[in-house]
Amino acid sequence: MSNTIFRSLITWLLVAGPFWGRLCAQMYRPSAAVEDRVTALLDKMSLEEKIGQLTLYTTDWGSTGPTIREGYKNDIRSGACGNLFNSHTVSFVRELQRIAVEETRLKIPLLFGFDVIHGYKTIFPIPLGESASWDLEAIERSARVAATEATAAGLNWTFAPMVDVCRDPRWGRVMEGAGEDTYLGCRIAEARTRGFQGKKLGDTDAMLACVKHFAAYGAPIAGRDYNSVDMSERYFREYYLPPYEAAIRAGAATVMTSFNDYDGVPATGNKYLLTDILRKEWGFKGFVVTDYTSINEMVNHGVVADEKAAGELAMNAGVDMDMQGAVYQRFMLQSYKDGKIAMPLINDAVRRVLRLKIELGLFEDPYKYCDETREKNSLLSAEHRAAARDVSRKSIVLLKNEGGILPLKKTQKIALIGPLADNKSELIGNWNGAGNANDCVSVLEGLRAKAPAEITTEAGSDFMAEKSDGLANALALAEKADVVVAVVGETAMMSGEACARGEIGLPAAQEALVMALIKTGKPVVVVLMNGRPLAFPAIAESAGAIVESWWLGTEAGNAIADVLFGDYNPSGKLPMSFPRSVGQVPVFYNEKSTGRPFDPNSKWTSKYIDMPNSPQWPFGFGLSYTTFSISEPKPEKTTFKKGEPLKVSVTVSNTGARDGEEVVQLYVHDLVGSVTRPVKELKGFQKVMLKAGESRTLQFTLTEKDLSFYRRDMSFGTEPGDFEIMAGGNSADLKKVRVTMTE
Ligand code: NOJ
Repeated sequence: MSNTIFRSLITWLLVAGPFWGRLCAQMYRPSAAVEDRVTALLDKMSLEEKIGQLTLYTTDWGSTGPTIREGYKNDIRSGACGNLFNSHTVSFVRELQRIAVEETRLKIPLLFGFDVIHGYKTIFPIPLGESASWDLEAIERSARVAATEATAAGLNWTFAPMVDVCRDPRWGRVMEGAGEDTYLGCRIAEARTRGFQGKKLGDTDAMLACVKHFAAYGAPIAGRDYNSVDMSERYFREYYLPPYEAAIRAGAATVMTSFNDYDGVPATGNKYLLTDILRKEWGFKGFVVTDYTSINEMVNHGVVADEKAAGELAMNAGVDMDMQGAVYQRFMLQSYKDGKIAMPLINDAVRRVLRLKIELGLFEDPYKYCDETREKNSLLSAEHRAAARDVSRKSIVLLKNEGGILPLKKTQKIALIGPLADNKSELIGNWNGAGNANDCVSVLEGLRAKAPAEITTEAGSDFMAEKSDGLANALALAEKADVVVAVVGETAMMSGEACARGEIGLPAAQEALVMALIKTGKPVVVVLMNGRPLAFPAIAESAGAIVESWWLGTEAGNAIADVLFGDYNPSGKLPMSFPRSVGQVPVFYNEKSTGRPFDPNSKWTSKYIDMPNSPQWPFGFGLSYTTFSISEPKPEKTTFKKGEPLKVSVTVSNTGARDGEEVVQLYVHDLVGSVTRPVKELKGFQKVMLKAGESRTLQFTLTEKDLSFYRRDMSFGTEPGDFEIMAGGNSADLKKVRVTMTE
């Protein structure tokens, strides 16, 4: 091959690589070759064995819900249980898989599921934190590493990505999603799905993704987990539904139902969601699993009188697999005999499960994820830790930096204070897979590794209560230091499932500690760790610098040190608005136009009398150690035809003295619609690295879909008229231009 051809081939591969990656990860479609094998197997199966394939039990290794079922090994042996979760490591998986393929009549291998949410052993930032990176490649890589490790430890199915849009920080599970925005949520849903499923199902490092929780789980009334959801169909389709569809179109092979009801019908028994939307509208071909005992819980919802009827409702609605409820196992046979569940429905559900077992290659090699050497080499490898450090520092959001307190100088004497200053136990956050807190780098270790002049440390308080002498010791250290770094926040288990909070401030003891440190007059850098947006107005007002670091995982301390010392210039942007007070909740950037928009000079407009409407920090906000200026968006034309894409360019300049990254965000406002439209909606973003003084012009394309919405008659499309196109570095500071769409 000549050099030129070789070089063009390499260039082509580099340019086309991401494209092919994307192409490979397309909507899951079963291959025709698999179908005959499924049919042959199905023909041999008894009804009891079929029901076994529709059953998923947790092992006693760890419970992620309220019940544990004894005797699951006997259930595998008898064929009553065809799938397991909460069991991992090569040795344990091998032991259980052996029962299935050696001791059962049909030798059908088991699926092994687990909540691999933000890493398996190498723990990455919690998903909300990672979303703050706005770096889709890094997010995809994080899911890829998670899948590489998880599949090396016996697993073949993750219960992720969680794509529930959430606008209420009281809800503890907000930590597990991508925040408040639909557009950002869709892009992240795709990236995570691609990451988990890799190039193709069947590769040894690819695992089934499970998009959850279908649907609208992120909107429980009052932010209380498991509570009812009630919203209009228009609102649901426009803001809450798209990320599930995006994950499915990116290839997600399985879907998990949610605990809540939607329009009065629990999601697990909701035919409109599971059959009409999921299978008929979107053409989803994978299988649907319930959430933990959510079939049984339909009795509590009061839509069925008993568990047998709950199973019938679920099956007829489109649920294929029962997680942990044992409802299918206990009642389906009778329901079939009673004529309440038809055999073709059961067969279809079993087919969906068997297909994926075949696609994964489990029949050829049921132990394909059970290679001890791979497990040993993969988990916590240097490469994986490096990927975690990379995305961790990209996830950190600089919220405030007055007088250039940050970056710190290595010559400064640092007083490192706070219950999270020298802590490892919390850093992996909730839903931490098989992560081990001892593998984490603490903030103290991360800072020390940079060899600064002097660091003294003191917790100062416990998480929830004062610590005797804590405050006095902390203040004494602060007095002797040049700068105070206060590492404070929630505990890891204050966010996550069943962790709703009615107050979303810092725990009082820590708030008091930080305020006392600020009163010393020393410069104070507050480093926050938390799983949700918090409201802490006094600190927001008076601290010199504030750094939001979420729960960053294994490499937390190194990533935080990279940012604090300026070895990495912070680039994260909030994926969710931070309220001033819980009373503003829900506060989100893309609210609808009202008839009485806020006017500070008029009483009769939409506002509070005791606080501003605006959040403390808006969606998309984040500072850098350099400064950027972003131009007005320049549309290619100011009048364009309905259906035509519109190209828009935006110039971004690094106007400061350091190299840095900026996320240029593009928003749209449809000025007149047949129904009320949001005042702005994110429709594009690009994260770019610019050298100090450098400028770059970025190209965006607004497609017809970007300008579409559910019109008065609920058809999805555009309406000609005027639009504002806005560009900026966060959702509040935007420059705009007007364009017109004609018929
Ligand atoms: C309940 C949670 O809601 C769900 O997200 C999780 O995947 C299952 N438990 C299994 O652990």
